[in-house]
Amino acid sequence: MRRLTVPAIRARKQDGVTAEPIVMLTAYTARQAQLLDAHCDMLLVGDSLGQVIYGLPSTVPVTLEMMANHAAAVVRGSYHSAVVVDMPFGSYEASPAQAFESAAMLLKASGAAAVKLEGGAAMAETVAFLSERGIPVMGHVGLTPQALNVLGGYAVRGRSEAEAAKILDDARALDAAGAFAIVVEGVVEPIAISVTQNVACPTIGIGASAQCDGQVLVTDDMVGMFERVPRFVKRYEDVAQTIARAAETYAAEVRARTFPGEEQTYQPK
Ligand code: KIV
Ligand code: NA
Repeated sequence: MRRLTVPAIRARKQDGVTAEPIVMLTAYTARQAQLLDAHCDMLLVGDSLGQVIYGLPSTVPVTLEMMANHAAAVVRGSYHSAVVVDMPFGSYEASPAQAFESAAMLLKASGAAAVKLEGGAAMAETVAFLSERGIPVMGHVGLTPQALNVLGGYAVRGRSEAEAAKILDDARALDAAGAFAIVVEGVVEPIAISVTQNVACPTIGIGASAQCDGQVLVTDDMVGMFERVPRFVKRYEDVAQTIARAAETYAAEVRARTFPGEEQTYQPK
């Protein structure tokens, strides 16, 4: 199975129609990537790793080095999915040149195929700058967690007419600038549908709509690993309970001196 390319994923949407929805999940480690790879079209090394892996209060403190290290692990653990890396807060907003330097560092260090950055019209020039210089860019509109300090929280976006119009304008600007896909996060469904109908590139929904051209979820949320998850996350499994139960049984066996048993112990020949 040859690794999917960014142009192949972009080409899933033709004349506004996506016959086969695009499947994306986050991955932060090599093992996680191995388990998800065959089932996905794209793996996202999301800056959500700040909260999920590092216990940070938001994605704002996440660094380029963190992203580069986890992206390299995910590339090593996969061979089918296209790997997309989030550009962390502060690594791209100042100028197209700053963004190029950061994005090039991420791709060189990891072998990932593309970057994702948050923001709409304000980032269009940067998206064009990178795309024209060999770095495919995925956009991200609606609820953009890196803007937490401006937005004031993680509330759903697009409830007012002005906000809805802004999200659509942002998505159009990114599309026109050459984004190969756009994540639409945490918006009321009509906005997600209207963005999907009004941009040429595929939209990837999260807390958006089943009518988006693809979907993404944070893997740890959907397997039941992370404790606090938004309403739009469906829990497909309860891995946290499985791990806690294993630890509980192990602890009891250690305390009772029944582990290690005969099968886990080496004897002289
Ligand atoms: O960081 C992340 O995991 C993301 C997805 C939720 C889209 O940006
Ligand atoms: Na992100």
